[in-house]
Amino acid sequence: MTGETWEMVQHRTGGDGAVWRSCDGRRYKRTGPDVLAEAAFLRRIEALGYPVPRVLDEGQNEDGTAFFVEEALPGSSLHEMADRLAAAGGALDAEVAATAAKVSAELLRAQATHPVATSAKLLAEFGEKAGYAANVWAENPDLDTPHRRAVITSALRRLESLPLCASSLDYGLPNVFPTGVIDWQHHGLAPVGYDVVPALEIIVFRGGTGRYSPTAVQRAAYLTAVDDAVVPLLDQRPSGFLGEFLVVKSMFFLALTRPAEASPDSTLDGKAGKWLYRRHLFTECLEQYEHAGTVDTAAFPSFAEFRQHFAGRSESTAPNDP
Ligand SMILES: Nc1ncnc2c1ncn2[C@@H]1O[C@H](COP(=O)(O)OP(=O)(O)O)[C@@H](O)[C@H]1O
Ligand SMILES: [Mg+2]
Repeated sequence: MTGETWEMVQHRTGGDGAVWRSCDGRRYKRTGPDVLAEAAFLRRIEALGYPVPRVLDEGQNEDGTAFFVEEALPGSSLHEMADRLAAAGGALDAEVAATAAKVSAELLRAQATHPVATSAKLLAEFGEKAGYAANVWAENPDLDTPHRRAVITSALRRLESLPLCASSLDYGLPNVFPTGVIDWQHHGLAPVGYDVVPALEIIVFRGGTGRYSPTAVQRAAYLTAVDDAVVPLLDQRPSGFLGEFLVVKSMFFLALTRPAEASPDSTLDGKAGKWLYRRHLFTECLEQYEHAGTVDTAAFPSFAEFRQHFAGRSESTAPNDP
């Protein structure tokens, strides 16, 4: 790979390092402190049949930092495709929805074929890592109550009936391409289904800033496709754990969103609005889960609705100065 020139795509979200694209567009390079572990992980799951880019090279840069190179997956991410094809606020494009179901089914089958025995300890670690729990409580100490912790613990306990598997923990349309899944930086063990089951449900956490949202019919068809993919590998329907998965996802999306200067203005523009919206979705998720045993994301307000109806009114949206 010597002599290759690279242009930077972006600094990686949620960590040090960066992603680079080769000038011919056929390879991507990742740099940063943990990339060699990420490369080893990618090689391992590729050998297990996961639909992921092939690792082509790895090593040290001249300045001593680590890198690895992977093949570019063809086309664009399903998020980019959906965004391009949708009219503002429109339904998710039917072909993108079908492609999401296809890739999700392929990933889930590979995951269900390589189960890892679960335990209360491993699930507690999953909750901490996938939900960035320590960060959520540190940034939102007013939400840290024994009651909310008990709701989360009960969700994790119910997940004990699923095996674990090597997982992305950041699966969603921005990281899904028509032939595979990129961005395994945050990988870890998760219950089978955690990556793929909530993939269409989590679109709402972006606050309606995307131009598309899945319809109820699309979400139901997607969950059926996902469930069908693991018959007879799994003796459970993974969609039956959507509520538990969303409890953890609602923490993941709240984590690291608190702005350095927390002075939400009345318009809720910018970072403060995102933080307050995610706080609202987190508390609503836990309340729904506690009372209904599941979570219906269609009941969540869009960011625009949240801004109109909830800003400054609900207790959960008006944090005390911690
Ligand atoms: N193997 C790949 N094939 C195609 N595009 C890629 C690949 N790796 C990265 N990209 C592009 O680079 C962008 C950033 O990479 P990603 O690993 O998702 O970074 P981040 O951790 O910041 O989300 C992706 O959204 C995608 O457009
Ligand atoms: Mg990404």
